[in-house]
Amino acid sequence: MAAFLTWLNQWQTGIDWIDDDHREIAAILNRLVEVNGHPLTQDPEIAQCRVFIVLDALIERTRRHFQAEEAFLRTIRFPGYEGHRCEHAMQLAEFADLRRSLEQDGAMRLSPDTLEEFKRWFFNHVVVEDRDYVDYYVGEVVTSAAYRAFHADGRVPGGPYRDRTD
Ligand SMILES: [Fe+2]
Ligand SMILES: [Fe+2]
Repeated sequence: MAAFLTWLNQWQTGIDWIDDDHREIAAILNRLVEVNGHPLTQDPEIAQCRVFIVLDALIERTRRHFQAEEAFLRTIRFPGYEGHRCEHAMQLAEFADLRRSLEQDGAMRLSPDTLEEFKRWFFNHVVVEDRDYVDYYVGEVVTSAAYRAFHADGRVPGGPYRDRTD
């Protein structure tokens, strides 16, 4: 069966730890789709627990990624920091709402619409929203003398920028 999300090199930002985070989140999303598709042959509560365990892993991994990203954006003084932080906060609120309503409804599975919504969110986060700060980082920070000086000391978060290999 084809993966729900197949990582494409063109999604890479060129910043290793961010790309690693994004790839990990994509892998958890694939795992969620897989678990969600398991037949309900056992106790429904067990099936529900499996879905919730992976959903919680997705939420927690995303939360950690957002925190790390925001710390990075503050360090590089990204001018769009507040807007970007708000996008993150809204997404986490959406995850929390979804989690709560699934639990209240006693849902056993995520609907296909919800999974498609996750995919759209992931794509939008990685390919559209994060692209803004990557462009700023590459255009304003990596090329600066300050970056080169800091980087020589190994004090730049995110490490050296490398050209993306499409
Ligand atoms: Fe990101
Ligand atoms: Fe982001």
